[in-house]
Amino acid sequence: LASIEFSLVGIEVGQSVTILWRGLPVFVRNRTPKEIEEAKAVPLSELKDPATDEERTKEGHENWLIMIANCTHLGCIPVGESGEYDGWFCPCHGSVYDTAGRIRKGPAPKNLVLPPYEFISDTLIKIG
Ligand code: FES
Repeated sequence: LASIEFSLVGIEVGQSVTILWRGLPVFVRNRTPKEIEEAKAVPLSELKDPATDEERTKEGHENWLIMIANCTHLGCIPVGESGEYDGWFCPCHGSVYDTAGRIRKGPAPKNLVLPPYEFISDTLIKIG
């Protein structure tokens, strides 16, 4: 199946789940207001792969961060709610991602990749 629908019901603020899309793990995170604030406060000039928080999320649903869960270095799965920037930490070689999944430190060259997705309703997304 090229696309899947996924219900966001029951994923509380501050919680993440990992789902599968086309055999790829995908993080679905309901970000806290603090995480969103931190992501928005970062100047683009500090980013290795510059992208605003708005570009990483969907308007009106900015609490939801939906990303392919493979580190852009060599594909390991980073650990959530960890690392220096309160985002993700990849234990394989030490890449650190922030609360918008943007690469901040370590060998990974790029931000965690966003899959194509859309909101069908406030609580239902379609990935792919
Ligand atoms: Fe993540 Fe190397 S695979 S840092």
